Amino acid sequence: MNLDEEEFFKKPEKDTFEQEIGLDVIKDKVDEISKKIDLLEKKLSTEKPEKLEKKKFQIFLDTADVEEIRKAHSWGILDGVTTNPTLVSKTGRSFEECIHEIVSIVDGPISAEVVSTDAEGMIKEARELAKIHENIVVKIPITPDGLKAIKVLSQEGIKTNATLCFSANQAILATKAGATYVSPFIGRLDDIGHEGMQVVREIVQIFRNYDFKTKVIVASIRHPLHVIEAAKCGADMATVPFDVLEKMVKHALTDVGIKRFLEDWAKVPKG
Ligand code: E4P
Repeated sequence: MNLDEEEFFKKPEKDTFEQEIGLDVIKDKVDEISKKIDLLEKKLSTEKPEKLEKKKFQIFLDTADVEEIRKAHSWGILDGVTTNPTLVSKTGRSFEECIHEIVSIVDGPISAEVVSTDAEGMIKEARELAKIHENIVVKIPITPDGLKAIKVLSQEGIKTNATLCFSANQAILATKAGATYVSPFIGRLDDIGHEGMQVVREIVQIFRNYDFKTKVIVASIRHPLHVIEAAKCGADMATVPFDVLEKMVKHALTDVGIKRFLEDWAKVPKG
C-alpha cells in the first residue's frame, strides 16, 4: 500500500458525515423546524373554524315560480333563488307578491332585480327591496350607473348581485365596486358562439389571485353539463332553471334499477 492508499483507507477520527456537515448544525435546524411545526399546529387549532372551512358549491333556483321553488326546497338541496323581470312576468303575479312569498319559503339569498337604469333610481329601488327581508340581494346590471349604485349600496350594507355580466372585465369592475355576487350569463354567451364557461374560468382565477370576496353565480344555465362545469372550475354557485334541476336528478339507470329491485323484491317470500 503506498502512502496515498494508506491515507484513503485510514478510519476518520470523527464520523465523516458529522465532520463534513456538522451534527450540531443539523440538530439546531431540526429543533428550529420542530418549533415551527408546533407553532403552525397551534395556529391551526385556534384558527376560527369558518376560516378553515372548505368552499361549498351552492345551488340556486332561477325562477319566480313559487311552486317550482317549493318542490326544489322540499328536496332539501336549495340554497337560494334568483329572479329577474322576465321570470316574474311569466308568473302573472305582481313582483312584490312573488318576492314576499319566495322569502317565506327559502332561507337563503333571494335575488330581486331593479328596473331603473340610472344610479339614483337603482339605489332608491334597492333600498326598498332590502327592507322586505334580510335575505334580499338586489340585482343590478353592470353599467356605469350600475357600478355607482353597487358602490353606494355596498357601503350601506345592502347585498348586491351584479347581473348581465358577459366578461371578466365587467366582473373585475363589479367586485371593485363592492358587489356581493356577480352573475356571468353563460348560456347567452354560448348562444352567440362564445364559450360562456371560459368567462367563468377567467373570473374565478382572477378573484382567487386577489382574494376578491365577491361570489361567482354561474347564471343563464341551459343544461346539466353547465352545472358540472361550473362546479369543476370553482364557481361558488350555479343558478338553475327548474327543468335543469329535474334533469340533474334523473338517470335512466336509476329508474331501471328501482324497477328491477321492486320486481325481485316481489319474489321474496313474505312473513
Ligand atoms: C340570472 O340570474 C338570470 O336570471 C338568468 O340566469 C338568465 O337566464 P336566461 O339567459 O336563460 O334568461
